[in-house]
Amino acid sequence: MPGIVIVGTQWGDEAKGKITDFLAGDADCVVRYNGGANAGHTVVVDGKTYKFRLIPSGVLQGKKVYIGNGVVVDPEVLLEELEDLRREGFNPDLHVSDRAHVVFDFHKLEDGLQERLKGNLRAGTTRRGIGPTYSDKTARFGIRISDLLDEEVLKSKLKILVDLKQRMISHVYEEDIRLNEEEIFRKALNFGRSISSYICDVSAEINEALDSGETVIFEGAQGTLLDIDHGIYPYGTSSNTIAGGACTGVGVSPKKIDKIIGVMKAYISRVGTGPVPTELKDEIGDRIREAGGEYGTVTGRPRRVGWLDLVPVKYSIRINGIDELVVTKLDVLSGVNPLKICVGYEYEGRRLDTIPANIRVFERCKPIYEELEGWDANINWKRVSEKGYGALPRQAKEYLERIEEHVKVPIRIVSVGPERRETIVLSG
Ligand code: IMP
Repeated sequence: MPGIVIVGTQWGDEAKGKITDFLAGDADCVVRYNGGANAGHTVVVDGKTYKFRLIPSGVLQGKKVYIGNGVVVDPEVLLEELEDLRREGFNPDLHVSDRAHVVFDFHKLEDGLQERLKGNLRAGTTRRGIGPTYSDKTARFGIRISDLLDEEVLKSKLKILVDLKQRMISHVYEEDIRLNEEEIFRKALNFGRSISSYICDVSAEINEALDSGETVIFEGAQGTLLDIDHGIYPYGTSSNTIAGGACTGVGVSPKKIDKIIGVMKAYISRVGTGPVPTELKDEIGDRIREAGGEYGTVTGRPRRVGWLDLVPVKYSIRINGIDELVVTKLDVLSGVNPLKICVGYEYEGRRLDTIPANIRVFERCKPIYEELEGWDANINWKRVSEKGYGALPRQAKEYLERIEEHVKVPIRIVSVGPERRETIVLSG
């Protein structure tokens, strides 16, 4: 199985980082294909927690790690992550696409200013400059990693871009902030120099790896409902988070993807704005938030949580072509009884089984729930993960079986704790 995509089926934060790290044990390379430092991928190994925002989660397994052209690279974050990893004794075999775009400080500033202007339509962004960087890329104003290695090109591109941003800051947003073009140029040049040994044609390298039979994991960031085209627009992010994004975000043919793994949390969480039909604003929600540590990895914001909603999962299965599912954070639901899962929506007396494009329709969708028996609060999950699927409480097995019955895709992995080893692989 050489080309494997790992994709989020909900609103992101499905614990894809943990699963990528787990599966990277059997892979040769891991490549990020979308997003930027808005992602916060957490991996816990032997009690130690690592958080990655740009570097692919396979790095702790000592695998070759790649940042594809579809990623937007924040220099400060990348250098910080490299430094942290080196301090921990890792020597990342990192490769950065010469075609990836660079996030500048003015993008982060613009991110905040845009949110202010958008009012009710703001997505509650991570303020990492993601949207403005992708906008500049699409408008063909952007600066690519390869530009950092060419002083002349960098200078001429920045001259136009900084001028544009200054006009926007002063005249559109009416802020008294002066951008220093020379300083921005020097900083960018220095960044290019400090990462020059990592810069390469990632598409060429990944295709070569695949052609020689190596296993490549394409690590998605965020989730399907945050996708720029197929997510809950405009309350999502600015990249293609879906499995198809792996092809454009790395430069591989769809023919090279052999398997697509969808990661879903046993409940839902959402950081940011927009409708969430199964949101729990009561003590059950608080309980799940605390048990699951549902606070944003990047921003620290409390996440909105709710009952498992299978409509987004089914939608994700269709959009991504998911072959197998991974259910994470099953342990978090311990002691919640009864449990509810949303199996469809009711909208003005009609049943809806998919995500509508019209945001006003989605806002008014009422969940149709099925109730299931919960399991005991006091389960020794470490023991369960050692013993395997058979050791799961009966009710937890029923919960998983019910999901499979509804979505008609097999669950292959169940995660019952943050540690790498707290993972149960089901026999296929
Ligand atoms: P941006 O990606 O920072 O522009 O944020 C756009 C929307 O996506 C906001 O609602 C964010 O909260 C959400 N978002 C961005 N990255 C992540 C992530 O990694 N996990 C969950 N939500 C995210």
